[in-house]
Amino acid sequence: MQIARTTEELRRLVADARRAGHAIGFVPTMGNLHDGHYSLVRIARERAGFVVASVFVNPTQFGPNEDFARYPRTPDADAGGLAQHGCDVLFLPSVETIYPFGAQASVSIHVPVVTETLEGAIRPGHFDGVATVVARLFNLVQPDVAVFGQKDYQQLLVIRRMVRDLAFPIDIVAAPIAREANGLAMSSRNQYLDAAARERAGAIRATLEAMRDGVGAGSPFAGIEAAARAALEQAGLVPDYAVLRKADDLGEPAPGQRGGLVALIAARSGMTRLIDNSLL
Ligand code: PAF
Repeated sequence: MQIARTTEELRRLVADARRAGHAIGFVPTMGNLHDGHYSLVRIARERAGFVVASVFVNPTQFGPNEDFARYPRTPDADAGGLAQHGCDVLFLPSVETIYPFGAQASVSIHVPVVTETLEGAIRPGHFDGVATVVARLFNLVQPDVAVFGQKDYQQLLVIRRMVRDLAFPIDIVAAPIAREANGLAMSSRNQYLDAAARERAGAIRATLEAMRDGVGAGSPFAGIEAAARAALEQAGLVPDYAVLRKADDLGEPAPGQRGGLVALIAARSGMTRLIDNSLL
């Protein structure tokens, strides 16, 4: 695996791969990689002969009171893991490479509608930061295919909309959610949890399953959502939301709708926010 820190190094490596006839797969990350990330690399590998992963903790997607400063940074372990999992190039850009005019003075991309609810409502500006950095990374890497985890379901929809609206010639692939043994969705933020909190957080997955059962049994959505919030509270979590939405745009579903739904949960365990979802 080669490491590129500048646009020039990256472009040279990608151009060589293209000349050798390879399609380019891309996995953007913020580092502190776990098996969930490596599953994205594996999927990229299946679809492209040459895989680039980026590690960049993007300042513009963190709110002023969020965990940008303490976000776990493990560059050596990340490089070792990516090399082992068949990544060809690790792109490690500086803030200046991503935001040449400074993070606060950059062009910003706003994807309307789908960003106005759930995570977008609770974390104002978050998805502008995500869309902006991903667009910039797409222009730097110029991949044919890019892989994103389904755990960040709303992020996935935001990226798909941006790609369609701005006509990026990139195939966006969703990777299934990787889980711990107790069902907790893998996330870099899980390491903020002690063993007991990790165990309790398994209730998120169990609650999503109960929501699925409720929909299958034809229960009213409001009752399913109320029961889900109660179950999360019972497990010692503080729910931000536990909702059923339309899977394609996160709009409110029609009362009788049974297909095309997604159940989404965000809940706090102490200072740590956890999100998860299930397509129904
Ligand atoms: O999902 C993430 O890790 C980040 O939001 C992403 C897509 C790498 C953009 O910074």
